[in-house]
Amino acid sequence: IKIMLIAGARPNFMKIAPIARSFDKTNEIEYKILHTGQHYDQNMSDIFFEELGIRNPDYHLGSGGGTHAQQTAKIMVEFEAICEKDRPDLVVVVGDVNSTLACSIVAKKMHIKVAHVEAGLRSFDLTMPEEINRMVTDSISDLFFVTEEQGMVNLKKEGKPDSAVHFVGHVMIDNLYYQLSKLEKMPSETFKTTEYKQQHTRYGVVTLHRPSNVDDKNTLEAVIDSLSSISRTLPLIFPIHPRTRKNLETFGIKPAENITLTDPLSYMEFLNLWKDSVVALTDSGGLQEETTALGVPCLTLRKNTERPITVTQGTNELVGTSKKKLMVNFEKIMAGNWKTGRKPDLWDGRAAERITDIILAP
Ligand code: UD1
Repeated sequence: IKIMLIAGARPNFMKIAPIARSFDKTNEIEYKILHTGQHYDQNMSDIFFEELGIRNPDYHLGSGGGTHAQQTAKIMVEFEAICEKDRPDLVVVVGDVNSTLACSIVAKKMHIKVAHVEAGLRSFDLTMPEEINRMVTDSISDLFFVTEEQGMVNLKKEGKPDSAVHFVGHVMIDNLYYQLSKLEKMPSETFKTTEYKQQHTRYGVVTLHRPSNVDDKNTLEAVIDSLSSISRTLPLIFPIHPRTRKNLETFGIKPAENITLTDPLSYMEFLNLWKDSVVALTDSGGLQEETTALGVPCLTLRKNTERPITVTQGTNELVGTSKKKLMVNFEKIMAGNWKTGRKPDLWDGRAAERITDIILAP
């Protein structure tokens, strides 16, 4: 079977890595990796390929930047030409970024089957571009690989046949365990983030990039003000997404001194930081799940989450952009009064193997 594995943005790279590694173990799959170029900075893209131990993309489209429509359209046009030439039997898309949407539409219209990894997640918030990407991709996919129970419920409600929907666990968590075991065998001085850890015995990590948090001046100012308050009690380190950096500069917002800004970090550097942090303050989707997997407290600066298991079973809490809610929960964490959580079912490091078995099943 000929498969095209699609990645475009930072959170995709760690999801395709375990799938590629699992495909490598069988000789029944002939696969190619296609990078859409949605993310293009060295530290948003190339660094991950080096570190995750996957081969360089077979195809690299230059579709980064621009508006949503421009980006999506560029990916579609270029991907169509590749499909025309290569004719894969199956296109595997992951997550919920514009590349996921663009490539699934192109494949489906060419009568190529589409498998969606991380299917069925819903925030029910249509102001999020990712929610639209998730809904459209799931509406046309042929095979659905689901990370948590609620995803199964959502897809059933949307009328998907049981035979197409598979609860397999989470490839991102497969990758987390894989990288963690590698990290534990390496001397800590390998990582430049170790220096920060040596200087700060207790610290929190911050990531912020959602348009709803960072694109509006007043909202971003309020969020940074909350983080600045926290940093008076707990030093924070903030690897900053290009979108967020640009907006801080445009709006002239300066985070407090105890918030250390860094360029975006590689997967291993960032893991080295957050796994030993007191709390993660984030609006990322993946980090909510990864902190749950390792039992690190997480406060999510969003009003909703498409990954509810991280709240019901894990260590995550939603705080929105309310400073009060953030501070109350932060104090609880500082007082050691936080839920320990449990690891969700099938987050066991074997999701990619299950996916491979299902793809190969007659
Ligand atoms: C995208 C995904 C989001 C994901 C995030 C992870 C969509 C709709 N959003 O958001 O779900 O959580 O990636 O990072 O697909 N930029 C650079 N260099 C890069 C990449 C981006 O400078 O390598 C800047 C550019 O100005 C670009 C802007 O960031 O226009 C936004 O990038 P884009 O890919 O559109 O969305 P993200 O905010 O990164």
